[in-house]
Amino acid sequence: MVAGAAEAVVATERAQQLRAAINEANFRYYVLDAPTLPDAEYDRLLRELQAIEAAHPELLTPDSPTQRVGAGPLAAFADVAHVIPMLSLNNAFSEAEVMAFDRRVREGLEREDATIEYAVEPKFDGLAVALHYQRGVFVRGATRGDGASGEDVSANLRTIRAIPMRLASEQPPEWLEVRGEVLMLRRDFERLNEVARENGEKTFVNPRNAAAGSLRQLDPRITAQRRLSFFAYGVGRVEAAAGLPAWLPETHAAVMDSLAELHLPVSSERSVVHGVDGLMRYFHALGARRDSLPFDIDGAVYKVNRLADQAALGFVARAPRFAIAHKYPAQEEITQVEGIDVQVGRTGVLTPVARLKPVFVGGVTVTNATLHNEDEVRRKDVRVGDSVIVRRAGDVIPEVASVLLDRRPMGVTIGDLVTPEFPPFSMPVVCPECGAPVVRLEGEAAARCSNGLSCPAQRKQALIHFASRRAMDIEGLGDKLVEQLLDRGLVQTPADLYRLEQAQLAGLERMADKSADNLLQAIEISRGRELARFIFALGIRQVGEQTAKDLARHFGSLAALMAADAAALQQVPDVGPVVAASMRAFFAEVHNQTVIENLRQARAWKDGEAQAAVAGKLLGKAFVLTGTLPNLSRDQAKALIEAEGGKVAGSVSRKTDYVVAGAEPGSKFTKAQELGIRILDEITFLDLISHGDNTL
Ligand code: IVH
Repeated sequence: MVAGAAEAVVATERAQQLRAAINEANFRYYVLDAPTLPDAEYDRLLRELQAIEAAHPELLTPDSPTQRVGAGPLAAFADVAHVIPMLSLNNAFSEAEVMAFDRRVREGLEREDATIEYAVEPKFDGLAVALHYQRGVFVRGATRGDGASGEDVSANLRTIRAIPMRLASEQPPEWLEVRGEVLMLRRDFERLNEVARENGEKTFVNPRNAAAGSLRQLDPRITAQRRLSFFAYGVGRVEAAAGLPAWLPETHAAVMDSLAELHLPVSSERSVVHGVDGLMRYFHALGARRDSLPFDIDGAVYKVNRLADQAALGFVARAPRFAIAHKYPAQEEITQVEGIDVQVGRTGVLTPVARLKPVFVGGVTVTNATLHNEDEVRRKDVRVGDSVIVRRAGDVIPEVASVLLDRRPMGVTIGDLVTPEFPPFSMPVVCPECGAPVVRLEGEAAARCSNGLSCPAQRKQALIHFASRRAMDIEGLGDKLVEQLLDRGLVQTPADLYRLEQAQLAGLERMADKSADNLLQAIEISRGRELARFIFALGIRQVGEQTAKDLARHFGSLAALMAADAAALQQVPDVGPVVAASMRAFFAEVHNQTVIENLRQARAWKDGEAQAAVAGKLLGKAFVLTGTLPNLSRDQAKALIEAEGGKVAGSVSRKTDYVVAGAEPGSKFTKAQELGIRILDEITFLDLISHGDNTL
């Protein structure tokens, strides 16, 4: 019995240690975005804690990190009354409206000549929630609902790792209601939709809908898979702990700082500014960064900073007088589909593209939007004549998010005749460019033209690729010029470029003598390019820049590469059966053999020597780069790695040795953590370059 008691004490202590370590890891990962613990280690700690709690159920607490994904589905959400109502914000769409807001504030405070101090922050495009902490422990969370009461989504909120289950404080308030926004990061949204698209499932229109749909799931296990994020932007009901002074900062900015100290996520984009000038400067600065933020925002929120002033100003109807949302141009707009074109890419992939009535969205005029592939068009049922929602956010290419079915034109009445509505889209059975049959391989979403380089569209893309900067780098040979050269029959294949003459070019549009000279010179300079560039320039499916480099290094000459069988090809790093087969097929084509022979005669490339191994501190080490480094560009980092015999791959796998991560890293970062791969920042990376692996 004594031994049992001693064991229980040990277990209690260990459980506390584990919870602290896991909470800290969550905070660093999800709030600070600066992880310290590899995922594998995190999982071990979590499993150990689960084991202790299973053996000692009395130790299980509701705020334990093991409880984030707990119970099964609910039948319905319970109601939660908001003791302090959750209001909305009035909007401003122009500087004049912002000036009017500032004037009302000054008049309301009877300080007409003063310059007001404002706390400013992004307007997150997600959904509002209230989180209730009792003596520092998360006890409940609710949606905004109608503002007076919302739905109890506690189980789902527990799955959001950015939300602490226990506040980081020795003396937490008796009650703290944190208000903020649940949202989905763009990269998590893109990934979610990509998976849905691959599985032939419905996609979400935007991250906001995805976040809302995920938070209002009755089964928290589904929410847990969706990767939601959270940012706090204020507080509701607050009660001090008995015997402690009331928690009363003087400003909104100080409230936010306190929330950050409690380990709640607050946006690093927040600031304090003065007067309308300060507001407008912030609006433009944040607007300039809008596209590169990891999440959607639809405006900036301005709040009178001093809480006493906020109280004095009070509310009108359902919105505060002390705050306003200044909106950016929408990232979604409605427009009409005027046609659906099918574009043919370099490797023959057919992509349906909606031709749109021009619409201003996300800060630019959009006239085309991708429809991804045939299944996607069918699922969304996009038809000519439809009104659609177009979305353009961040660097993502514009896409048709959804169709407004109730606005579909019913057909036109001409006399007694009613024309039917437009039929559903179907992929052409022959290539729209060359008329060759379209093929769709089993298990692939993409349909392709089967005509290879005999298809003019593929030929054009292939030529553009051949001349591009990272391939043969023929300066000045862009889309328009390639098109003209093809149209006039001056060029059929890349080899023909090396036979062009001044007189032929002179007749082309916008082609003065000087530019003709420049082009001929650029073509001339491109002769004798390194083998790696040449291999890449050939545009073999599955053979990217890195693979081309590996192949060049391994085989040394094009002849050796062309002679290699599948087994020999697979000796090269990252070349598997699929890539090998693609190369074999490319070199087996007579057309390709002829073009290569002509390029050989034009001395387009220079063979090197097969290099079994290069010297260098990082010989054989595989790197992946993600995010923006503070000083080095991607190309510079790559060059440093390659100079030391290392390789740079595009995606993280078990073979990756290091991931070099900068600001706003992508999914590669998460993957690296999952696989327990070493992650370097710029400083440690440069250290590795100068001293090799032994110092890390
Ligand atoms: S403060 C009393 N700050 O906008 C005002 N709201 O239109 C309380 N929102 O329901 C809101 N970012 O969902 C505030 N930085 C921010 C916000 C924000 C987004 C949302 C919130 C609210 C809606 C009001």
